[in-house]
Amino acid sequence: MKRKVAILGATGIVGQRFIELLQNHPWFEISVLAASEKSAGKKYKDACDWKLTSPMPSEIGEMTVAASDLRSVESAGDVDFVFSAIPGDTASAIEEQFAAKYPVISKASAHRGDADVPLIIPEVNPDHLALIPIQKKKRGWSGYITTDPNCSTTQLAISLKPLMKFGLKSVMVSTMQALSGAGYPGVASMDIIDNVLPFIKNEEEKIETESTKVLGAFNHGAISKAPIRLSASCSRVNVSDGHTESVFVGLEQNPEIDEITREFEKFRGLPQELKLPSAPEHPIVVRRENDRPQPKCDRDCGNGMSVVLGRIRKDPVMTVKYTCLGHNTVRGAAGGSILHAELLAKKGYLD
Ligand SMILES: NC(=O)c1ccc[n+]([C@@H]2O[C@H](COP(=O)([O-])OP(=O)(O)OC[C@H]3O[C@@H](n4cnc5c(N)ncnc54)[C@H](OP(=O)(O)O)[C@@H]3O)[C@@H](O)[C@H]2O)c1
Repeated sequence: MKRKVAILGATGIVGQRFIELLQNHPWFEISVLAASEKSAGKKYKDACDWKLTSPMPSEIGEMTVAASDLRSVESAGDVDFVFSAIPGDTASAIEEQFAAKYPVISKASAHRGDADVPLIIPEVNPDHLALIPIQKKKRGWSGYITTDPNCSTTQLAISLKPLMKFGLKSVMVSTMQALSGAGYPGVASMDIIDNVLPFIKNEEEKIETESTKVLGAFNHGAISKAPIRLSASCSRVNVSDGHTESVFVGLEQNPEIDEITREFEKFRGLPQELKLPSAPEHPIVVRRENDRPQPKCDRDCGNGMSVVLGRIRKDPVMTVKYTCLGHNTVRGAAGGSILHAELLAKKGYLD
């Protein structure tokens, strides 16, 4: 029997990607679609402005959208667990209401910083799931909240993890982030055509704080943040999907570029070992051409779940620099959450 999942924020950009990626999923099936009061009670096809190139599945279009409260969702269908893709500023209380009863896997920022809430990239820090029983006990919940990092942090942290063996000291990152990262309708066309916007609200702070939590260690029931100095500068660019990042890394050691490249290419995590359905064979793919990675050419690598690196070279100020590309709504959002849920299922956290 497949586990039944409710999607909060189902009409949004990330919600649509959840629906696309969950079609024919071997372990999970969509039972409830929920969104704001504006959409509640409407058929999904009337409530949602579908933005993906794949067609909206016809049976999904006929489902009635529920309001995002426990009673409405439970009346709409059976639920085993919940994906949350609602705005960060509205997520806190809504997610807590569901977590009292169900596992909630959240793409929203509201609970990422809570000391008892895991912030998971399945290949990077699966051991942090050990916070779940601690959280349940502390909060007296039958369910729990576990979160994914924001999209730019996810691809950056995946690329940094293999470098930790060389003594990761400092990181500077400059991002060029896609339009879909702002949700829909997002940035006005008059602002972004022929333009770059050098500010994304709260994004730099999220990268700087979330990366050190994800790369931190789980000891004695708590996460200690990784001792890395990290500085981010974020811009919005006129690209539909796929965030590009210029990354500059200071290491304690001074490995050769070939050695660093080998570490990137051989990097594997628990999802690959467990052969989870959404795990890419290669979490990191290295391109050797001078002009790659590019969002248009490389964002769908590994079905959008691989992070693509290129231009790996020595840096005269730090130690090494490279370009990092990730699909923000797949690896950085719905695909990352689904992989997270597969790990939870395999580890018995959805039973
Ligand atoms: N886009 C990305 O690449 C990305 C990546 C990582 C994380 N995230 C995070 O994922 C979440 C969703 O992002 P998005 O890009 O999909 O945004 P979006 O396109 O603006 O969609 C927002 C969704 O939340 C629903 N919603 C809005 N206010 C609500 C409320 N008060 N109660 C219940 N539902 C409400 C909307 O429903 P209606 O249609 O009814 O208004 C819609 O389904 C955000 O927290 C975002 O920061 C996004």
